Amino acid sequence: MEKKYVIRGKIPLKGKIEVSGAKNAALPAICATLLAPGTYKLKKVPKVRDVFNILKIMEHLGAKYKFKNDYLEINTSNVNLNSVPYELASQMRASILFLGALTGIFKEAQVPLPGGCAIGKRPVDFHIKGLSQFGAEISLEKGNIVVKTKALKGDIIVLDFPSVTATENLMMVGSLAEGETIIKNAAKEPEVVFLGEMLKKMGADIKGLGEDTIYIKGKKKLEPIEIEVIPDRIEAGTFLILAALNEENEIIIKNIKKSHLETPILKLQEIGIILEELDKDVVKVKREGELKPTKIVTAPYPGFPTDLQPIFAVLLTQANGISFITENLFENRFLYIFELNRMGAGIKVEDKTAIINGPIFLSGSPVKATDLRAGAALVLAGLIAENTTTVYNIKLIERGYENLVEKLSALGADIKVVEDES
Ligand code: UD1
Repeated sequence: MEKKYVIRGKIPLKGKIEVSGAKNAALPAICATLLAPGTYKLKKVPKVRDVFNILKIMEHLGAKYKFKNDYLEINTSNVNLNSVPYELASQMRASILFLGALTGIFKEAQVPLPGGCAIGKRPVDFHIKGLSQFGAEISLEKGNIVVKTKALKGDIIVLDFPSVTATENLMMVGSLAEGETIIKNAAKEPEVVFLGEMLKKMGADIKGLGEDTIYIKGKKKLEPIEIEVIPDRIEAGTFLILAALNEENEIIIKNIKKSHLETPILKLQEIGIILEELDKDVVKVKREGELKPTKIVTAPYPGFPTDLQPIFAVLLTQANGISFITENLFENRFLYIFELNRMGAGIKVEDKTAIINGPIFLSGSPVKATDLRAGAALVLAGLIAENTTTVYNIKLIERGYENLVEKLSALGADIKVVEDES
C-alpha cells in the first residue's frame, strides 16, 4: 500500500539533527567495489531506497553483503554477471554507474537505459561517447546499452558538459584502462572527488580531482579497501533551510561539511541567515531580522546545486520581496511549483526562471512529490504552513533522505507516516 506523510505545520522545532552519509557518494562507491574482487568496508552508508536498490543489483550480479546501521560490508569475489536487469535498473538513474564499473572489470557490460526522477530528458550520450573513446564497441539493443571490447585504451575525453555520473563512469574505466586517460571539462562535485579518492585508495593513479581536467594512469589491478562516505551536502542544505524557516526554531546541525556548501551558504547570508560554528562540522542556524529576497542560478559545482533549488524556493516564499530562481540543468525541475502553488505560493514560471513574490502565507493542502528534492521541499513547506499538509508519493523522498520522519520528529515536528487508503 502507498504511504503518505501527514504534517501539522507551524510548530517551532528544537534540538540536534545529524546529516547522514551522501547518497550520491555511496552509490558510485558501491559500484566501484566491482572493479577489484574482494571484501570492502564502507562506513556512513545511508539507509535509503536508492542504496537498497543498488545493493539488489549487486546481489543479482553475485555480490554478498551485510548492512548494519550505517556500516556496509560487501564482497564482490563471486561476481560473475555483467548484465543489469531492467526491473532493477528502471528504479533509478544511478544504475548507469554500472556501465563504467562493469566495463572496467569485464570489458563487457549490458545496462538498461536508466529511469529515475522525472526531471527531464537526462540523456546518456556523454557516457556512451566517452566509453567509445576507450575503444569499446557500443550498441543499443532492446533498450539496453551494450558494451563490448577486447582492450580498454586510455584517451583524451572532452565532456560537452561536466556531467557527474559520466565523469564517475569514465574515472572507473580509466583506472583499469591501458595508458593514460585525460578527462577534460570533468565534474568537480565533492561526490566525484570522493569516488576519485576511493579509486586512489584502491591503487589507481589519479590527479586533478576537483579540477577541470582529471589525469588517470591505468593500472592492471586494483585492491579492495575500507572507506567512510562523505556527509550528504544536499541533506545538510535541506536541514539549513529547515532551521531557517521558522524564527522560533533552534536547531543544531551535526556532520555538516561547510566547505561543500559554499555557494548555498553565501546565498543564505544574502537572505539574512548566518551560521554559528559550534564545533568541527557542527553549526547553529540564526536568522538576522526579516528575510531578504535573492537571485539563484543553478550551475555545476561549485555553483549553486540544482538539488537545492526547490528547498531554497520554500525559504524564499518567506522572504520580503521578489526572488528569482533560474534552473539551468534539468528542464523539469520546476514541477514542484505547481504543488507549492496549491498551498498558496503563487510562484510564476517564465521560461527557466521561477519568480517568487514573498512573503507568502502557505496553507496546508494535499500535495504530491514529483521528484526526490521536490518532495523534501513540500515537507518543509508543510512544516511552516497553516493546518495540515498531506504529501503523497513519499517513496520518492525515501530514495534519498534517511529516516526523515524520525529525524524531524526528534525536533518536535508533527509528521506521521500514514497508509494511503485511496
Ligand atoms: C547527478 C546526481 C543528481 C544531481 C545531478 C546534478 C547522482 C547519482 N546523481 O546526476 O542527483 O541532480 O548530478 O548535480 O550522482 N547530460 C547530457 N548527456 C549525458 C549526461 C548528462 O546531456 O550523457 C546533461 C543532463 O541532461 C543535465 C546535465 O548534463 O542537463 C548534468 O547532468 P549530470 O551531471 O549528468 O547529472 P547526473 O549525473 O545524472
